[in-house]
Amino acid sequence: MWLQRVGRSLGQGRRQLSAKIVKGTSIEVQPEESASAATMTFPGVWLRDNCRCSECFHGSSESRRLDWDAFDTRVRPLSVRSDKAAGQVHVSWSDAHESSYTLAWLRQRSFDAQRQRAYLEDFYRPTTRHWAGAEFEQIAQHFDYEQVMAEDASLQQWLQALAVYGVALLRGAPLDEGVVRRLAERVGFIRRTTYGEEFIVQAKPGAQNFAYLSLPLPLHTDLPYYEYKPSVNILHCVVQTESRGGSNLLVDAFHIADRLRSQHPEDFERLCRIPVDWNDIGSEDGREFHNIWRAPVICLDAEGKYARINHSVPQRDSHFSVPLEEVEPWYESYARFVHLARDDAHAFKTRPGDVLTFNNIRLLHGRTGYDDTEHNSRYIVGAYLDWDIIYSRLRVLKKHAPPPSNKS
Ligand code: OGA
Ligand code: ZN
Ligand code: ZN
Repeated sequence: MWLQRVGRSLGQGRRQLSAKIVKGTSIEVQPEESASAATMTFPGVWLRDNCRCSECFHGSSESRRLDWDAFDTRVRPLSVRSDKAAGQVHVSWSDAHESSYTLAWLRQRSFDAQRQRAYLEDFYRPTTRHWAGAEFEQIAQHFDYEQVMAEDASLQQWLQALAVYGVALLRGAPLDEGVVRRLAERVGFIRRTTYGEEFIVQAKPGAQNFAYLSLPLPLHTDLPYYEYKPSVNILHCVVQTESRGGSNLLVDAFHIADRLRSQHPEDFERLCRIPVDWNDIGSEDGREFHNIWRAPVICLDAEGKYARINHSVPQRDSHFSVPLEEVEPWYESYARFVHLARDDAHAFKTRPGDVLTFNNIRLLHGRTGYDDTEHNSRYIVGAYLDWDIIYSRLRVLKKHAPPPSNKS
């Protein structure tokens, strides 16, 4: 694990090292603790920008305080000296400033591609593993609710599974309505939406949301009509219908997007590019709302990776604000995506005490229809969490986790 490796190298204390100026602007650091230790190169401008002295860096807030209005991007190292005993590199700069860096600090920030990848994949955000519906039983991990509530190691394992696979199940939760809040607060705090903090999914007369019916609920992501979407769904099964149906459906839409990208690249391109108007109109607790957000079905980030997926039949607006000639091809492409997803959906029925947690901006979820009668009801309590809060919690847990006993 990235941090634990770093932690151990920190703990080892003293190291032999040497440092020199290269190409007039960069500094090359040679750790020298073994013949194979790779040389690390650091651009001077970056080092100066990240000076750790109290004038440039505010320690207790872990924040840069450098005066960036006066920052000279052409700053050059004039001399560099390594202190082998202290494991530090000292630099004198052309702006008459002096900086010191520890080897451990420099290593953690090495520009080596493998090192950066390890940091991004272990610590920034765990790498996602995409799965087909038929693999669900292998990838879906189960955790004990009480253990997650009591033990940081279990909490970490649950959040890690959720980040990697986009789904994880907790079992053995009590059957009270406070479970989703307690679980969300074990991580951070509930994400509130138009539908409140906790919401009850049950068949209701005069339902203001399509989910609050006993009809089949086709695959969808929740709240595609928000710019800032709630990212993880928590669905606590308090009462499950004994009638047929009432099963949850799940699909890894990143896997569907992978298939579309390789088998139908034109459809993939269209679904990444063409914005769709998603909407939700109604009222909750006497407050009227009209939500709209325009976004493609498949949203990519700056590196071309999947950022999020949007899909909903009921919550797609009849406004479609795109050039006329885009409409028909978009329908064909969307139908391809929807059919691939439908054919890959995995159905399973939760039992009272189960808490289903999944990534709302990655997985599509739905529900099969069920009979709702006086003697046969279904009662699910839901809430949302945000990835910002979850990832932060996961990083803090990783920072404080005991180092692995034998191997890294
Ligand atoms: C929802 C939903 C699933 C369920 O309320 O949006 O997807 O199991 N519910 O009822
Ligand atoms: Zn400084
Ligand atoms: Zn839903």
